[in-house]
Amino acid sequence: MVALPFLDLPPLATAAGTVRLPGSKSISNRLLLLAGLASGITQVHDLLDSDDTRVMLEALAALGCGLEQGPRITHVRGLGGRLATREARLFLGNAGTAMRPLTAALALLTARQGGRFELEGVARMHERPIGDLVDALRGLGCRVDDLGQPGFPPLAVSGPQALDLSRPIRVRGDVSSQFLTALLLALPLASDAGEITVEVDGELISKPYVEITLALLARFGITVAREGWQRFTIPAGSAYRSPGAVFVEGDASSASYFVALGAIAATDGVVRIEGVGHDSIQGDIRFIDAARSMGADIRTEANAIEVRRGAWPLRAITLDCNHIPDAAMTLAVMALYADGPCTLTHIASWRVKETDRLAAMATELRKLGATVDEGPDWLRVTPPATWKSASIHTYDDHRMAMCGSLAAFGGVPVRIEDPKCVGKTFPGYFEALFSLATARREDVPVIAIDGPTASGKGTLAAAVAERLGYGLLDSGSLYRVTALVALREGLLEQDPLPEAEIAARAATLPLSFEPGRVRLAGEDVTDALRAETVGLAASQVSALPAVRRALHELQLSFRRAPGLVADGRDMGTVVFPDAALKVYLTASAAQRAERRHKQLISKGISANIDSLRADLEARDLRDSTRAVAPLKPAEDAKRLDNSALTIDQSVDCVLGWWEQQRMT
Ligand code: DC
Repeated sequence: MVALPFLDLPPLATAAGTVRLPGSKSISNRLLLLAGLASGITQVHDLLDSDDTRVMLEALAALGCGLEQGPRITHVRGLGGRLATREARLFLGNAGTAMRPLTAALALLTARQGGRFELEGVARMHERPIGDLVDALRGLGCRVDDLGQPGFPPLAVSGPQALDLSRPIRVRGDVSSQFLTALLLALPLASDAGEITVEVDGELISKPYVEITLALLARFGITVAREGWQRFTIPAGSAYRSPGAVFVEGDASSASYFVALGAIAATDGVVRIEGVGHDSIQGDIRFIDAARSMGADIRTEANAIEVRRGAWPLRAITLDCNHIPDAAMTLAVMALYADGPCTLTHIASWRVKETDRLAAMATELRKLGATVDEGPDWLRVTPPATWKSASIHTYDDHRMAMCGSLAAFGGVPVRIEDPKCVGKTFPGYFEALFSLATARREDVPVIAIDGPTASGKGTLAAAVAERLGYGLLDSGSLYRVTALVALREGLLEQDPLPEAEIAARAATLPLSFEPGRVRLAGEDVTDALRAETVGLAASQVSALPAVRRALHELQLSFRRAPGLVADGRDMGTVVFPDAALKVYLTASAAQRAERRHKQLISKGISANIDSLRADLEARDLRDSTRAVAPLKPAEDAKRLDNSALTIDQSVDCVLGWWEQQRMT
């Protein structure tokens, strides 16, 4: 079952809690390349696991580096400056941090040692400029052939070629700092004959990223001398020396979404961000200063940040964002909550990133009701007078998706298209967001799926929840756990049933839930709960009013952003009477008996179809004739008889209803 190509966020209200950041993309890919070029083995700790690092790892593997990936440590056996393979075609997705430095490194290696490598990416990668880097490499004597449009990937580098390193290498600095970074990372490969100087033409943008490059080169034993931001010299005989173990900091750009979250919504608690702090080598850490100037209340530690809401509405700012190009996108969304227009300047590089981010941001913020003025290298955002619910297009750009999610605090629902694109740098972003952000319960949409036993509602509910990215409540499991506890304690042997005692157990069940599993005081009881004896006992205990009351609040607590699919008997009638969609699922008794029979046989449990049917009918009768919360369709429920439907057909039917009701 694949998730739908969108994620609907309800209006969000507050935020509190702790998030552990994934590793920095910029640091991860630089370290991987350095480790790949160095001799010996480098242990990379806390490497980011994302699309961009995956393509870098695949490229290194194709080049013959030895890789061993553990849960927290990746071992890289480097090439020691010697090509292990002379030909490969490298697919680098949309990772600028892989394309640019690998082009430079392989151009130099093939010039020296011979060979031919092709470097390509996704369609957008082929629209992202690389011409200035290619010009610099050709100026040195490297052979770089355009395989598509000149100045853009795909490219081929080949050799041998004679290199001339006697003159300074000139590279433009005002389109992307990655060109300079690529040269600085790769040129030590050619420093055996003498020192190498790089001169930057034009003003260098995004200097903090170059600082990361210099800091990481230093970790590998290469000290680049720098005169201002114009001239960089790599000493003669520079060789990459693995420091043995290196640690990847949390991603400071990713931190910006949670800093913003705290600034917007940490009213009752604190948002704590672990993995970066004031000791960070990443330039985007300075986003904190910008957020502070908008009013955020921020405290930093060496490796953590704590944020609370300060000024509200946020204070409007005008800011030169040259030093925080990526995190500045987050400011554009914070601007929606400001007390006046915010102006972000010096952000021309936005136009050559994963998408034209200036145009994209302007278009999407306007959909929300903001007034946005856009120049060649600036953006002005005037907050919405009235917020509008919007579907945010994300342009296959992780940052557009993460920024878009922060618009859900404007009081209206927001749809994020193609939410999976966050995988470029932060695959678990939305899970992290929902572990911190809360919505008012009444704002969280619920789909209630009720029906008799073995109607397939559990399977249907789980599939619908997965497709929508919503949470799941299998309310039957709560009655089943209660029954299991009561059975184990012999409480069901008493007549009449000790209602108060069973209810007391239900009120304090030591439960924890993981996807598809239920734990009782740590014990995995998922399978035990499915036993027929437990199902019958559940039907008994669920008829006790005190038990139903005891489980009521627990069921309500499942109603959390972004939404809930709840299945049971009384989801639409009693527990979530305001559910936005109520489905009453049925199937003939014969069908249901047959399904249950198949289910049991597949688990190796023998069963008799006639007695199963008799059991089902007895449970239906008890569930539907009991005095409290009897099984019956809610008045406004949509009925679905799935006797003749496949699971996929039932799921499509429910999702169709859901989309319909969303439009009304
Ligand atoms: O859906 P299930 O078979 O896991 O449910 C087990 C029993 O729990 C069922 O016989 C009736 C009861 N139940 C209930 O009374 N109300 C619910 N919302 C869910 C289940």
